[in-house]
Amino acid sequence: MSSPYRLHGICGSLRKNSFSSAVLAALADAAGSRAVFDYADIGSVPHFNQDLYVDPLPRSVQRLRDQIAKADGLVIVSSEYNHGIPGTLKNALDWASRPHNGSPLRNKPVLIVTTSPAATGGVRAQHQIRETVISALARPVITPEIVVGQVSAKMVDGKFQDTSVIDFAMVGFAALFADIDRLLALPVATPEATS
Ligand SMILES: Cc1cc2nc3c(=O)[nH]c(=O)nc-3n(C[C@H](O)[C@H](O)[C@H](O)COP(=O)(O)O)c2cc1C
Repeated sequence: MSSPYRLHGICGSLRKNSFSSAVLAALADAAGSRAVFDYADIGSVPHFNQDLYVDPLPRSVQRLRDQIAKADGLVIVSSEYNHGIPGTLKNALDWASRPHNGSPLRNKPVLIVTTSPAATGGVRAQHQIRETVISALARPVITPEIVVGQVSAKMVDGKFQDTSVIDFAMVGFAALFADIDRLLALPVATPEATS
């Protein structure tokens, strides 16, 4: 594919100086001209309430869904809260997950990265994020798990700086790009929308 991949970045943390958002920025930077990113504002999305899943959707929800729909693939970089997926991230993915067989997440390749100041790198959240995107019929990229342990020690002047982690994550990006290429080469199937 010659034009840059359109990637949608989702950070699982709302914290202003979030390590996860610094990692996402560093990965977007490392991807360079191969990708153009836009970013989710998951903090603006209301709590999921199926009563609100009607036309018109809340504006922030519609925006998130449109961003996901337009993207060739997603890059989720998230922290871990209490051994699991941050509630705000789960909430955003829930909003993007319907209708089940025709949602913006359906068939979307998703690269998942987790971070933590601890050595465990958010690996438990990583598994929960994977399960959630599989439930929404998205396609987590099959690549060695990208978990960024001791992330706080890898920050310099507010920027994430660790060449070996970034190089490792770029292997995941190559797998993401290959999945996107494979999917774009397939004939377009019309989804059967179900609730
Ligand atoms: C409520 C809460 C629960 C947390 N639980 C975990 C956890 O289960 N595992 C972990 O590695 N870090 C945990 N942490 C620490 C976070 O990884 C840390 O605060 C991190 O900086 C948050 O990500 P961010 O920098 O992207 O905002 C927790 C932090 C908070 C505030």
